[in-house]
Amino acid sequence: MASDLPTEHRALVLEAVGEGLNVKNIPTPKPGLGKAIVRITAAGILSYHNEIFGGTRQYNLPTPIVGGISAIGRIVNVGEDATVLKPGQLVYVDCLIRSRDNPSDMFLTAVHGGLTEGSQRLFRDVWRNGYWAEYAQAPLENCFALDENRLCNELGYTIPDILYICHMLVGFGGLRDIDLKPGETIIICPATGGYGGSAVQAAIGMGARVIAFGRNEKELARIKEHVLRGTPNASIETVKMTGDEMKDAAALKAFGESDAVLDFSSPQASKSPHVKSATWALRRGGRISLMGWNEDPMNASVVVGMDITLKGKFMYDRDDIVIFLKMLERGLFPRGKNFVDTKLFKLEDWKEALDVAAAHAGIGKFVAFTP
Ligand SMILES: NC(=O)c1ccc[n+]([C@@H]2O[C@H](COP(=O)([O-])OP(=O)(O)OC[C@H]3O[C@@H](n4cnc5c(N)ncnc54)[C@H](OP(=O)(O)O)[C@@H]3O)[C@@H](O)[C@H]2O)c1
Repeated sequence: MASDLPTEHRALVLEAVGEGLNVKNIPTPKPGLGKAIVRITAAGILSYHNEIFGGTRQYNLPTPIVGGISAIGRIVNVGEDATVLKPGQLVYVDCLIRSRDNPSDMFLTAVHGGLTEGSQRLFRDVWRNGYWAEYAQAPLENCFALDENRLCNELGYTIPDILYICHMLVGFGGLRDIDLKPGETIIICPATGGYGGSAVQAAIGMGARVIAFGRNEKELARIKEHVLRGTPNASIETVKMTGDEMKDAAALKAFGESDAVLDFSSPQASKSPHVKSATWALRRGGRISLMGWNEDPMNASVVVGMDITLKGKFMYDRDDIVIFLKMLERGLFPRGKNFVDTKLFKLEDWKEALDVAAAHAGIGKFVAFTP
């Protein structure tokens, strides 16, 4: 389907790790089968983008590269094999790309090339550039139509606020993977980070009771306040993490047996015993989703003795996105500032944007570019 695309557009480019970013004019991707060209409206930033681009967090990243994670934008052009998407449609553009002939080759475009030779080649040679740009190409299956009238007019979300779902979806993927059910109790740890905090919101939307477990008491109090402001009937408890395995286990057990645990340890938390503490608080047959970097989560005597399931999870499945969007469109999550406080930046202000993203993290906080 033909449309007017400029030959060049502005994008935020990393030439080499450790060398900062530059706004540059680069060629606009060409339309073709199997892909959409999207005019980007809002493009998300990670709290640890500075660590990735500065090299302190070593992700396998080809350079030069246009940065980014997921985005929201308007379709400008779709390949002739599209049957639903049309120019003008508002879409959520997901950054998790899968090989079409081997979906287990998966990677996060512009962030991490994944663990297989196939995913790394697909990243390097085909879907390299991210969405910190005026225009971007994405596989058709990564573009999810948004009901703009329902979300923006009836429910009152702004387009950048909707993009906060790219954080919530990650925890949602882990929670669905361990089959969290309404009414169950889940311990989320550490709950005070960007992904941990947004997972608390996802679990509350799924009807679970949440025990937010983290080191920072002030942030734990903010989590509780944020949840109850948006969802006054929610069941939310907090437990301070001290690093003492058995003391923390007792504090968690004071709320009764839990059904499940979701872990989002950052690399800095890799040696923390908090997953072991949480394991002590599980009922027989409890489930644990490991989504972070905890290197020592296994409490063998409890895992074996209590029939505990430990599962790793990378991101989410495509179905999870479809279901999450239905939940959002049905109004199952709070609105306005009770949902998220989003800070927006122009591409030129990338340095400030990435610094603000590192600080403005945690439940209901999000930072994005508006290219
Ligand atoms: N599986 C996946 O698909 C997937 C997807 C996205 C991200 N992740 C991973 O999830 C990790 C967490 O993401 P995030 O956005 O929540 O990170 P973040 O915003 O950087 O937050 C880091 C969290 O770790 C806690 N922490 C740091 N050092 C700790 C320690 N020594 N002991 C206990 N807690 C500690 C922090 O607690 P304080 O507030 O007390 O500092 C905070 O809650 C990321 O590093 C990322 O690699 C995985």
